[in-house]
Amino acid sequence: LNPYNFQMEECGLNLANCRAKGGAAGFKVAVLGAAGGIGQPLAMLMKMNPLVSVLHLYDVVNTPGVTADISHMDTGAVVRGFLGQQQLEDALTGMDLVIIPAGVPRKPGMTRDDLFNINAGIVKTLCEGIAKCCPQAIVNIISNPVNSTVPIAAEVFKKAGTFDPKRVLGVTMLDVVRANTFVAEVLGLDPREVDVPVVGGHAGVTILPILSQVKPPCSFTQKEIDYLTDRIQNGGTEVVEAKAGSGSATLSMAYAAVKFADACLRGLRGDANVVQCAYVASAVTELPFFATKVRLGRAGVEEIYALGPLNGYERAGLEKAKKELAASIQKGVSFIKK
Ligand code: NAD
Ligand code: LMR
Repeated sequence: LNPYNFQMEECGLNLANCRAKGGAAGFKVAVLGAAGGIGQPLAMLMKMNPLVSVLHLYDVVNTPGVTADISHMDTGAVVRGFLGQQQLEDALTGMDLVIIPAGVPRKPGMTRDDLFNINAGIVKTLCEGIAKCCPQAIVNIISNPVNSTVPIAAEVFKKAGTFDPKRVLGVTMLDVVRANTFVAEVLGLDPREVDVPVVGGHAGVTILPILSQVKPPCSFTQKEIDYLTDRIQNGGTEVVEAKAGSGSATLSMAYAAVKFADACLRGLRGDANVVQCAYVASAVTELPFFATKVRLGRAGVEEIYALGPLNGYERAGLEKAKKELAASIQKGVSFIKK
């Protein structure tokens, strides 16, 4: 018997209750890396999401405590904990959505690419589990460097014969969340009224805010454009430096991850017009992966939107972004192919 899966029976009861009430079945969601700085608040927020009926929390440490804690919240989702590699398959079986915030975070002075050596192997192992146990699941990848970990996931799935480009999504939502916040500050608006498309990837110059397409329509001075572009591209570093060695963004990331996961679940449910930015396999540029706005539906990414009109500043930024992205994608692909 699995000592950490202590809530199995209780779960069965809850599911029975749910069926008795005639409640529409929700979705089954797994968080891999659930005991971490992102994982814990992310798990808490997913437990609060009415679209989630079953929440599996997997990590290599501390899941019994996190699971016991979160399971006491009086919301509908049934929570189960899974600890260590030997429980990965149980954690993944039957999942509709798998969210991956597993892996080490940056310390001051590091780039996201400096995390590659450790996180590439972690993402590879987790994706091998997904290919085996829930090949139909939508996968949200948060682990850095996202520009490389998404190509790694795609290669693992290709090797296993389960790759569907519609179902593998790199989470760049935090860049959008930051962009909305910083642009709203400059414009003196409520951030909830602001929509800034952020395209490219998720590291430094590959994070490309398209300020000429901000909604509501507005204009910026060149000084504001320089300030906003720099702040959005370096938002992660701003947090890493402020945390001074204790990690990177966790709370804003959990918020962004849940906003994105909720969009994926609404898409799975069949809601119309669910559109968010994400880093996906794409033909929008000559690169095999690129972040743009995408429409989410029952199959995952159902439509990828073109970049739209860019001004000269944005076109120059795009060239820089593509150069760095190409190298990061190649690095991820080679890690699996070698
Ligand atoms: P953390 O160290 O606090 O937590 C990571 C968790 O992953 C830990 O609990 C650890 O035990 C777990 N873990 C390690 N190896 C594992 C494995 N093989 N299987 C399952 N779990 C494993 O780190 P964090 O602050 O939560 O950040 C996690 C990752 O998310 C980092 O790579 C970070 O750079 C990235 N991140 C991405 C974004 C983004 O916008 N995409 C934003 C913030 C952080
Ligand atoms: C972020 O943007 O906050 C994350 O990618 C974490 C980091 O290392 O900056």
